[in-house]
Amino acid sequence: MSWSPDKTKVSSWNEWDPLKHVIVGRADGGCIPPPEPALDAKVPEDSDMRGMFGPRPQHSVDAANAQLDHFASILEKRGIRVDRPDPLDFNQPSATPDWQTETMFGCMPPRDVLLTIGAEILEATMSYRCRWFEYLCYRQLLQQYYNEDPGMRHEAAPKPRLTDKDYRQDYLSDKIGVPRRLKWTEEKFFVTTEEEPLFDAADVLRMGRDLIVQHGFTTNLKGIDWLARHFPDHRVRAVNFPGDPYPIHIDATFTPLRPGLIMNNPQRRLPDEQRDYFARNDWEIVDAAPPAHQIPPPLCYSSVWLSMNVLVLDPKTVCAEASEVYQLEQLDKLGFEVIPVPFRDAYAFGGGLHCATGDVYREGICEDYFPNQ
Ligand code: ALA
Repeated sequence: MSWSPDKTKVSSWNEWDPLKHVIVGRADGGCIPPPEPALDAKVPEDSDMRGMFGPRPQHSVDAANAQLDHFASILEKRGIRVDRPDPLDFNQPSATPDWQTETMFGCMPPRDVLLTIGAEILEATMSYRCRWFEYLCYRQLLQQYYNEDPGMRHEAAPKPRLTDKDYRQDYLSDKIGVPRRLKWTEEKFFVTTEEEPLFDAADVLRMGRDLIVQHGFTTNLKGIDWLARHFPDHRVRAVNFPGDPYPIHIDATFTPLRPGLIMNNPQRRLPDEQRDYFARNDWEIVDAAPPAHQIPPPLCYSSVWLSMNVLVLDPKTVCAEASEVYQLEQLDKLGFEVIPVPFRDAYAFGGGLHCATGDVYREGICEDYFPNQ
């Protein structure tokens, strides 16, 4: 049965099959959250965000929303159905019996929260307190999909306690220094402990039967084990990327473009012993082109490597940020039709074009792209 925009169907098995239905985030009410253990470990030591919190300036919200709306309209013009989340009032305290925080975060990056595997959309545990309730922004959409598609599975991973036991005290300093951070992350000594399963959805790459999961600040080994038990028909593989002093979310580090081709951030190379799995299954790992910018936009958590945070629309078509001239050129040379999308005004709200989207439907089935085990 072919897909139609009027009939909801949830299904997506990988990052590259033809995209037909997607969620694009919103910047409304986005806040810089107050200090908390995991977040502090992630904000770069020289960041202009250190010591700030509260609502982001309205002019920056408006600029980000203009680019998000434009991106949504580009996708719609190509026949892709686009849904948008329902922002909460993020500038209010939230609490559980274990902790309290003064503001929430926002709902620009659905990729961080929602993991679509086949007919299932799974709400991730998340690992920042300020993002504990973010799933609520997507509940209206998920309920709609659940009502309209009898095959859809709506799942939520166990909500974590996120007490202080979840975070290594060693990271509670803004004077660790990048050399020490690089040593710690290479040794897989991350800010999150193994107290309970933790994962953000954006640490997971969907590659048919294989789920490639970054072990880092936002996803721990227990979270990866939880995913393996939850998806018993998949092979779940942990990867890590020495060279990243702030390892969160895999999609500015390791970006599959089509079967057999993946881009790797040249400053965060997959270690040799983890490359073999890709090599013996005829996957080529190419260095991503350098970013066009030396620094991220103001008040941005992410690195300049959002240049490689591209959204693949099908194995021949990819959206990339419009000012990233080197990345655009590389994708063109790799044989893609490249759609330039201006998006830097949205970066500060939670990332690039891949972060800002969440798959609902891509054509295709669950294939095995790694038959040589
Ligand atoms: N971890 C991603 C970065 O490079 C988002 O900033």
